[in-house]
Amino acid sequence: MQYSKILMDHFKNPRNQGELKSPDGVGEVGNPVCGDMMKIYIEVDKNKKGEEIIKDIKFQTLGCGAAIASSSMLTEMAKGKTIEEALKITREQIAEKLGGMPKEKIHCSVLAAAGLKKAVADYRGETFTEDLEEEEHAHC
Ligand code: FES
Repeated sequence: MQYSKILMDHFKNPRNQGELKSPDGVGEVGNPVCGDMMKIYIEVDKNKKGEEIIKDIKFQTLGCGAAIASSSMLTEMAKGKTIEEALKITREQIAEKLGGMPKEKIHCSVLAAAGLKKAVADYRGETFTEDLEEEEHAHC
């Protein structure tokens, strides 16, 4: 399977790449399959209804092009959403929004969704418990 134009665009022109100077939460995750790393930074604010939202989000990815594109797409999907909505973003949704991914690259979308969850856990003072390796195998 070829990479879609959308995926290639997010790889070549990643959105929200970098770091936030004073983040409210940071999530750093490593991919158990390939060892690639990703860091997600979030800034939290409240909307008019008083709900907590992801006001700003940035990422740093030490990984392959598919991981960079996934991170970029995740930040686009999460920005402005309430935390509860953002936590519902799945790796499948990220891959779908990118126009699909080759089967052997699906594991690359794991990091983005997990990184955001870990950043929110950090913001909330909670421990991130998701087992990435287990999740990976569940989708193979
Ligand atoms: Fe490691 Fe893609 S090969 S995230």
